[in-house]
Amino acid sequence: MWSKESPVTDIAIDDATYETMVCDVLIVGAGGAGMRAAIEAHDSGANTLVVCKTLLGKAHTVMAEGGIAAALGNIDPKDSWEVHFSDTVVEGQDLSNWRMAEIYSKEVIDRVFELERYGALFDRTTDGRIMQRPFGAHTYRRLCYIGDRTGLELIRTVEDQVVKRNIPFIEEVELTTVFKDRATGRVSGALGIRNKTGRLLLFRCKAIILATGGSGRVYEVTSNSYECTGDGLALAYRAGAELMDMEMIQFHPTGMIYPAGVRGLLVTEAVRGEGGILTNVKGERFMERYDPKRKELSARDVVARSIYTEIVQGRGTENGAVYLDITHKGPDYIKKKLPSMYSQFLEFAGVDITKQKMEVAPTVHYQMGGVRVEPETAATRVPGLYAAGEVACGLHGANRLGGNSLGDILVFGRRAGMAAAEYCRSVESGSVSDEDISKETTRILAPFRNKDGANPFALKSKIAEAMWKYVGIVRNESDLSKGLAEILAIAEEAKRVEAKGPRPYNQSWFDSLQVWNMVLDCEIMIRSAMTRKESRGAHTRSDYPKKDDEHWLVNVVTKEKDGRPVQELVPVPRPPAELAALIKE
Ligand code: FUM
Repeated sequence: MWSKESPVTDIAIDDATYETMVCDVLIVGAGGAGMRAAIEAHDSGANTLVVCKTLLGKAHTVMAEGGIAAALGNIDPKDSWEVHFSDTVVEGQDLSNWRMAEIYSKEVIDRVFELERYGALFDRTTDGRIMQRPFGAHTYRRLCYIGDRTGLELIRTVEDQVVKRNIPFIEEVELTTVFKDRATGRVSGALGIRNKTGRLLLFRCKAIILATGGSGRVYEVTSNSYECTGDGLALAYRAGAELMDMEMIQFHPTGMIYPAGVRGLLVTEAVRGEGGILTNVKGERFMERYDPKRKELSARDVVARSIYTEIVQGRGTENGAVYLDITHKGPDYIKKKLPSMYSQFLEFAGVDITKQKMEVAPTVHYQMGGVRVEPETAATRVPGLYAAGEVACGLHGANRLGGNSLGDILVFGRRAGMAAAEYCRSVESGSVSDEDISKETTRILAPFRNKDGANPFALKSKIAEAMWKYVGIVRNESDLSKGLAEILAIAEEAKRVEAKGPRPYNQSWFDSLQVWNMVLDCEIMIRSAMTRKESRGAHTRSDYPKKDDEHWLVNVVTKEKDGRPVQELVPVPRPPAELAALIKE
């Protein structure tokens, strides 16, 4: 199918030769969405190739620890897809795409059983059914889980299926652009860099599925790992796709706070699902004030804002956190249900959570905004380009329910794989123009020519500081303007970002390319946040504190116009009457 991997060589800095690979469907990203898409594209007969930035299965998927939300009704028999649909739309603050929410809540049930058939080892009820736990703002106990390692089990399970089918994959590839046939405007290929050799890879393909995750790393405090730099968002935008609701960033209420090296690391919502209690430094169970009914199991945006308020109003700990306490459950229960949390706190912070309270504060966890897709197929408006999982937008609206991301990647990963394979059957291969290849090659090799240019690592830190400072949980016009000015200044510096050293395994080179993606994503995030002059879900503006349905039941859609990202307001599609009747505020 493609040429043999080249050995690591002393490749010249300006070497513009490339290896060529041919497939029908190229899948970019090997987290849960990418691998589920690969399984389906392959099973639908498409010649499928997966490329990923680091290693197969090393993805943000593992940071969804507490479970997959699916209305099996194993613990609460009254649960149904209809109630799950309603919870998703209500907590998405009416910004979710109703059709995606419908598809999700119906199909995720089968996807969980399928995962079970693939071999996932779910926790069980005493009579052998899949166990379900409560999670924030879900009406019923709905999260199907494997201790506090659900994402990890999911990814291992779908990875096994990819390997079993012999679906080819290439690890450590940085994809830099999507090519379109100049005559038809359809996807015809992509360019990437093989990390190990520094050589260029030209992919000729009919369809591309972006499953690249979000851009959490543009923030200083985040649960996301190093690779989550929003590359897929920038690739899609540059290829002509639309980005939607990019102002909607989810701050998970509970991240670790110390030691500094693990600040932001996820403390799963499963701790609260299993009965964990939040208190401030005065010992008050403060969630009783913010949401007396649901308390710790309120929606994520509410809990995150409440913790933030306690801290900024001086009721936080010395470390700028609040307490989370699960000790009342006893050591055996904690070690069984929350094994990762137990070892994470013990090993990193010297805290035994069976005896001591944890200190926690909000951390950037998930991007509700992303590439605008068609609900049935995950297709973007660029023929042949698809997006699934966190990189896509529509299901979660202004606030994602915990557990709806693992289901999302299974449901829409599968649909994207199926649709891309079908699309490939209906089109001929397009061509990639030499001029486009040469232009892109010049662009991506530029950091080697920028002598005495900016340091990419320093630019990444500057981006993360600016976003954390100015585009945080609570926003206002003045902060957002300052944030935008900083990001645009960094973007200017980044034009001369410099990569040092030879091409193989050159992190400064990849960081340089990622910085370009990050500044673009951040500019769009901030412009979208400035556009939405109200508070809704995760987007809280102190200067517009109210939700304003009269003017803002709209999606903020960004598209390129004259080389600039321009925002447009598009009314949120309203559900048909029979579905609208299911929505219980
Ligand atoms: O807290 C958690 O386990 C995260 C779950 C999710 O983001 O869905």
